[in-house]
Amino acid sequence: MHRRRDVPVIAIDGPSGSGKGTIARRVAEALGYHLLDSGALYRLVALSAQISGVSLENAQRLAELAHDLDVSFGSDARGDEQIWLANEDVTALVRTEDAGAGASTVAQISAVRQALLERQRAFRQPPGLVADGRDMGTHVFPDATLKIFLTASAEERARRRHKQLKDKGLDVSLAALSRDIEDRDRRDSERSVAPLRPAKDARILDSSGQSIEAVTQTVLDWVASL
Ligand code: C5P
Repeated sequence: MHRRRDVPVIAIDGPSGSGKGTIARRVAEALGYHLLDSGALYRLVALSAQISGVSLENAQRLAELAHDLDVSFGSDARGDEQIWLANEDVTALVRTEDAGAGASTVAQISAVRQALLERQRAFRQPPGLVADGRDMGTHVFPDATLKIFLTASAEERARRRHKQLKDKGLDVSLAALSRDIEDRDRRDSERSVAPLRPAKDARILDSSGQSIEAVTQTVLDWVASL
């Protein structure tokens, strides 16, 4: 039996569009580690609320939904991610801006965060975990082996998100997206529970103007130097 706290965790936190998801996936693949996309869990709570007609103001019902979330993560034949809620493929729905906005609303509720805590910690399995989110280094895995706070300028983050959505065939205006990102940053940074901020012992990594490969390599170099 392994002890969970002996399993290494690389925590990658940062604001929306900083590239955390992509970098976390690449790093996990390179190291052969498991991956936790914690934002997807908050998005799924918002989505389940929508599906079951629960108001985003009903904290208790939202916490119950978070607790009972019947989710499975996988990948299709091409290696692209797949997310299932009960028996429904919700991969595309989870990535919409609507689900992101809903996620940042439910994420302000302390009972929802509490309900997701153990579920997130259960991803810590050998040989290791790369965890991406807002509070991986500060709350969920305070003893993480390496904590990274990944940032990028607001303009660059909006541009990246725009490209990402366009590639998926979704049509969203850049201006609307910039406003959305600013709103989400504000909600995430100003909330009273687990606000978005670097852990005291986090290394700050600014990915503005850097390629995905370069940022991934920096993280891997840091891991190697531990
Ligand atoms: O990373 P992603 O854009 O999928 O996250 C969606 C929302 O979920 C964030 O804006 C944030 O409000 C919330 N979240 C959080 N804590 C995490 C991950 C995401 O509060 N660890």
